Amino acid sequence: MCGIFGAVAAKPVADLLVEGLNRLEYRGYDSAGIVTLEDGELKRVCAVGKVDALRRRISTGGPLGQIGIAHTRWATHGAPSEHNSHPHIAPGVAVVHNGIVENHTELRSALKTQGCTFTSETDTEVIPWMISRSIAAGAAPARAMQEISERIEGSYAIGVLTQQDPDVIHARRAGSPLVAAFGDSGGFIASDVAALAGMAKEAVFLEDGDRAEIARDRVTIHDSTGRIAHRRIVRVDESFETLDRGGFAHFMLKEINEQPTVAAAVGARYAPSDAFDEIMVDFRRLDRVKLIACGSSYYACLVARRWLAEVAGLEADVELASEYRYAPVIAHTGNEVAIFLSQSGETADTLACLDKAKSLRIATIGVVNQMMSTLGREADYALPLLAGTEVGVASTKAFLAQLLVMARLVAHIGAMRGHRAAAERFREGLDRVPGWIAATLHNEAAIISVAEHFLHAKSAVFVARGGLYPLALEGALKLKEISYIHAEGFAAGELKHGPIALIDHTTPVVALAPSGELFSKVASNVREIAARGGRITVLGDRRAILSLSDVASTALTIPSCDDLIQPIVAAIPLQLLSYHVAVARGSDVDRPRNLAKSVTVE
Ligand code: M6R
Repeated sequence: MCGIFGAVAAKPVADLLVEGLNRLEYRGYDSAGIVTLEDGELKRVCAVGKVDALRRRISTGGPLGQIGIAHTRWATHGAPSEHNSHPHIAPGVAVVHNGIVENHTELRSALKTQGCTFTSETDTEVIPWMISRSIAAGAAPARAMQEISERIEGSYAIGVLTQQDPDVIHARRAGSPLVAAFGDSGGFIASDVAALAGMAKEAVFLEDGDRAEIARDRVTIHDSTGRIAHRRIVRVDESFETLDRGGFAHFMLKEINEQPTVAAAVGARYAPSDAFDEIMVDFRRLDRVKLIACGSSYYACLVARRWLAEVAGLEADVELASEYRYAPVIAHTGNEVAIFLSQSGETADTLACLDKAKSLRIATIGVVNQMMSTLGREADYALPLLAGTEVGVASTKAFLAQLLVMARLVAHIGAMRGHRAAAERFREGLDRVPGWIAATLHNEAAIISVAEHFLHAKSAVFVARGGLYPLALEGALKLKEISYIHAEGFAAGELKHGPIALIDHTTPVVALAPSGELFSKVASNVREIAARGGRITVLGDRRAILSLSDVASTALTIPSCDDLIQPIVAAIPLQLLSYHVAVARGSDVDRPRNLAKSVTVE
């Protein structure tokens, strides 16, 4: 997480820096800061909270330096505070940093014995001190950058400003994304190429180990061995996609309402028979699929596993990227493909697993919203989610798009493997999804009254079986991340093995129980919950809701649809429920506390 930005121009850069941070705020919003070099002095301005707080500070007598670095923080080491805000400064050196210095404790102790004094609790502050000491000992800034890379353990991207090199931003990438760019107005660095739209014309994505020097009229890149490197140049968009809430109270609500359009776009792109022709994987011969992701994207993988089994007769392992990256490698034989789901395409754990799969020579497919992201660029094949920019930290339309793209891929794999009838039935259901989502959105008023039952809850429970079990997990995640109510999802059959002890009259329970193969099983579990005083909301079609009306106090209605399609449609009322609970509790829905949109640290 954390957003890095830097600019060197022929005019004061403070406004450019703040605009850059504004565009990168999705990466963290605990505090923001800039440093510019003005008359040979490093001038630092910081503010706790969102970039707007920094903008207000700068508007009253902003710095005039024509070179500067900037940072928006997602706190890892040390609370959000001014003294922990980046940039961090040591004599003659300022640094912005994304990532983690894992050996910072040892480095800090060693630096302290050499007389260095620290003003923050961050891991970052050792970096300016190391560079400062190298320069003081006679090294040029470029040499000092090389030396620190030999001492830092962890993954990171840094931008550095030195008094010694007053016209150059030094930068290095080791694991965390970083882009160097240039245009008529000067040179830049940024964590995300999208932040440079309209400012720079051309950009290069630094590769791991790359070190860059960015001046007003040139960018020079050296690889990890110190040799000049020529990286592919990409054009930067001319205009930044300015996003507005389009009349909705929050981006999250707008994004929930965009889902019929997203579903139609995914259908248009992936329904044609040649939609997956670019993927040179022989799906007929596959022995196994690995599905890897984090958070909501992981839950989308759990749904996809069920579809792969039912529609394509193919077993899949679903892996949490944060665990799989450190899991023992078991030599495999046979044909395997690893599919990575990520809205951002920058999730550090997911990318580590991508590297792992590549090193095992497994074919990789990225299913990703940001095609210019690391996953979009580095997977063997990339399938766009077509969700459009998702601003709300809580994933809604991107989660839906993940389900839909995977559903279309599974139908394709199923057909290739000879399961034509199952694939066709699945496709017919998928074709009707945009209409079903639109119908579900019309129930918003009823969902608002269900939300009232959750307002004062300390804890909430979501239960389901089969293909809907991942949606119980997703419903609970959505609720906790934006309303801050503790919520857990359980496989309904597991309740009596422990979790049912949580149930009493204060616990709202959402039971995902539409008509279908497992309805009677879930219905029995619902009655067990009712017998213990649980306040039940049934999510289901009208028939299911009616048959549980004696035990359920409220309902979330979805259209009657095939079991395979239910996980897609069920996502909608769960999103709206969380949204309205969060709004009523006064949370910052689009920027909930402690979270960030792109999780670039492990
Ligand atoms: O960008 P990714 O899809 O890789 O992100 C994975 C998770 O961080 C993400 O899904 C997270 O759980 C969302 N905030 C859920 O709403």
